[in-house]
Amino acid sequence: MRRHRPAIVEAAGDGWFEPCHPAPLGSTPSALWRVLEARQSMINVWSKMDYHARCVTARVLGRQITLVNSPDGVKHVMATNHRNFERKSPQMRRALEKLLGDGLFISDGETWKQRRPLVSDIVHKNRVPTFGRTFEEATVEMVARWKRKPAGEAFPMQKEMAELTAEIISRAVFGNTLGSVAAHDVIEGFSRYQDRVDTVNFGYFLGADEGLPIFQGFRIRRAVARVQGIIDKVINDHLEGHGQDNSMVDLLVKRQQKSPGLKLDVSALRNEAATIFMAGHETTAAVLTWVWYLLANAPWVETALHAQIADVCGDRMPTVADVPKLDWCRAVVEETMRLYPPVPFLSRQVAEADVVGGVPVDKASLVIVSPWLLHRSPDLWAEPNRFMPERFLGEQRPTPYSYIPFAAGPRICPGLAFGLTEATLCLAILAQTFKVRVAPGHVVEPANRLTLRPKGNLPVVIESRA
Ligand code: HEM
Repeated sequence: MRRHRPAIVEAAGDGWFEPCHPAPLGSTPSALWRVLEARQSMINVWSKMDYHARCVTARVLGRQITLVNSPDGVKHVMATNHRNFERKSPQMRRALEKLLGDGLFISDGETWKQRRPLVSDIVHKNRVPTFGRTFEEATVEMVARWKRKPAGEAFPMQKEMAELTAEIISRAVFGNTLGSVAAHDVIEGFSRYQDRVDTVNFGYFLGADEGLPIFQGFRIRRAVARVQGIIDKVINDHLEGHGQDNSMVDLLVKRQQKSPGLKLDVSALRNEAATIFMAGHETTAAVLTWVWYLLANAPWVETALHAQIADVCGDRMPTVADVPKLDWCRAVVEETMRLYPPVPFLSRQVAEADVVGGVPVDKASLVIVSPWLLHRSPDLWAEPNRFMPERFLGEQRPTPYSYIPFAAGPRICPGLAFGLTEATLCLAILAQTFKVRVAPGHVVEPANRLTLRPKGNLPVVIESRA
């Protein structure tokens, strides 16, 4: 069963860059080894063959797991027959249930059906311009903080980007009333939870279709209690009529007051607020962190991006109204999500036996759709491991169901427009003033737990462009 971890590959040449990724394994490992190794990082367990666009299946202790890696298979699971694959895997549900309860991310059936339009409405693309001011304000505050940093001092970019996107989502979800200490506690609580929670549920492989409850140590329970306490206070304040601030919590509370039939009690409101907070900050932070690593290693892309920011904005700061014209910034973000999709694996539990991509799948078995593998398939992409944002410029679009950083079908990320606009604008504002370089001597390596992040938080140094 012993097997070495794959080597991490990174290569560059004149005008091209192949950013870090695990070398595909030479032979196909056992499914059990993969499940055990996946606890460390799920991107490390794939062989060359797995990167090809096809559907394959294997068994772990009698439990069937099917990898769905062709656009047709993805379409079947996420769109055409999505009802049969609506349920998240027991590992995902069990890992997140203590924090998110029946929040949208892990709910299904009637709860999901009732809440999905509610959540979609409050994060809808039509509302993104109203959040634009928040994106701008939080990023400008970060510019001011970075300007005060001593020249040449290294700092962890992942933490900076997490702080930025958490600040943004915190203001969008809770309004400006949370206060910086409580906001910081919520951010810390989510981060602790993610670092400690186990994402592999052995109970499921040993026969429990629903998986088994995960043991929660004292620290996890304390983090959850603190986060929930803070959110409950914000909700109760809104229920009592304080905080008419058009925030997402405000809108949720108003919906409930207008339609009591929705039966959104404090715990349901809390679960949805916590879900949006979690789903909406960690993902965007991961994308922005990878963006800086990629730009630092592809100066020709950085030059094109700087030129476009100057062209569109001159000396004034980019605003949300500029985003449609900043197509290099958007293309860099899209290409970053191709190479490093923040949610690299989407797993579902099969409701009824079915056939996917020619493979029969059992009832209650697991189906894994993987943006990580799909986005790097040589059958679907030219030079799949190279950083080439120009793929996303102009009218060109990837083959349908081959590019799914936000998932696809009815469960597609409702925050797509929010996240894409936010990442594009934050990048434009920061890149107008700073260049970012990976700290000398640091070797970048990707690791995947709930999201895909660089190990060690990506230490960087910044240079002022002025
Ligand atoms: C670049 C940023 C983002 C990426 C890459 C991303 C990606 C995803 C993906 C892949 C899923 C589906 C997961 C699955 O089916 O297992 C998802 C779901 C979700 N996302 Fe995002 N997301 C991003 C930003 C956001 C933002 C900003 C918000 C809210 C403001 C948000 C809210 C949600 C919610 C509520 C769900 C659950 C939807 C459902 O199950 O019906 N996301 N996201």
